[in-house]
Amino acid sequence: MYIKITENNAMQKVAMITGCASGIGRELALELAGLKWTVAATDLYPEKLRPLEEAGCLTFPLDVTNNRQIGETVEQIIDLCGHIDLLFNNAGYGLIGPAVDIPLEKLERQFRTNFFGPVEIIHKVVPFMKARGKGTIVNMGSISGITPTPFAGAYCSSKAAVHAWSDSLRMELKPFGIKVVIVQPGGIRTEFGQHSAETVSGLLKPESWYTPIEPYIYKRANTSQEKATPVTEFCSRVIRKIISENPPPVVRCGKRSFFLPLYKRVLPENLLDKMMMKKYGLVQLA
Ligand SMILES: NC(=O)c1ccc[n+]([C@@H]2O[C@H](COP(=O)([O-])OP(=O)(O)OC[C@H]3O[C@@H](n4cnc5c(N)ncnc54)[C@H](OP(=O)(O)O)[C@@H]3O)[C@@H](O)[C@H]2O)c1
Repeated sequence: MYIKITENNAMQKVAMITGCASGIGRELALELAGLKWTVAATDLYPEKLRPLEEAGCLTFPLDVTNNRQIGETVEQIIDLCGHIDLLFNNAGYGLIGPAVDIPLEKLERQFRTNFFGPVEIIHKVVPFMKARGKGTIVNMGSISGITPTPFAGAYCSSKAAVHAWSDSLRMELKPFGIKVVIVQPGGIRTEFGQHSAETVSGLLKPESWYTPIEPYIYKRANTSQEKATPVTEFCSRVIRKIISENPPPVVRCGKRSFFLPLYKRVLPENLLDKMMMKKYGLVQLA
């Protein structure tokens, strides 16, 4: 049972965040609540949001692949809070596995979660932001969308789509006072690696060309967690930037977020391919 936010606190800043059950989403919600924002924290499994409720957040069940639920949740938040100042499209996961072994339905689910879900939420939220002539939309990308690796074609391409779409959106919404920011994290310490590894299990058939190097596929699933940046450090930096008067179009931070995009820019493609193929065991198949 929620208390409707009234005209007395209509100036209250309101954030809607997706994927708040763990990792970055949970930390963003806690930090913004600590800054006295009204936080509408959403996730696939609402029971996992109880700690956020205890920290003062409003919580809502939301599977970002469910268009009907997206519409209902945005309406509920607007009804309770009156407006949304900040939409943070954070929910996502990494589908890991060889490109030729990933069935189309798994690839579609990856794109529905990481790309089409955020698009649908934005469609539902922007009319309210336009009516007020202000608002900030933050889309979660990844340095993997800039510098793809083997065994992450599904994930990397979904994040590359987020980057390109957000770039267009930023220019199109600027005339209406709506800001669009892309966050491109490097490796951040969360449950992301574990969730990625879960997508590998059962994917590889014994006859797969890549079965002999299966450990490297798991290695790719866990790459983000190698010497990863603490999630609190990452979220404080991101929040400082996105709630500033003039947020930058792209916020890139976390482990390897400087060097990986740099490699992509300066190294010849063939050299970068060789480095990646060695790291992920593909040279052993040659
Ligand atoms: N950690 C990194 O190194 C890293 C690097 C680059 C980009 N990112 C991006 O950062 C975002 C957050 O990831 P994280 O590191 O915090 O990983 P995480 O701990 O695995 O958190 C991901 C969150 O997304 C939620 N989620 C997944 N599918 C969903 C759906 N269909 N609807 C609603 N929520 C859904 C998960 O909910 P459940 O747990 O309830 O399933 C979970 O709360 C992702 O978009 C990820 O791609 C992370």
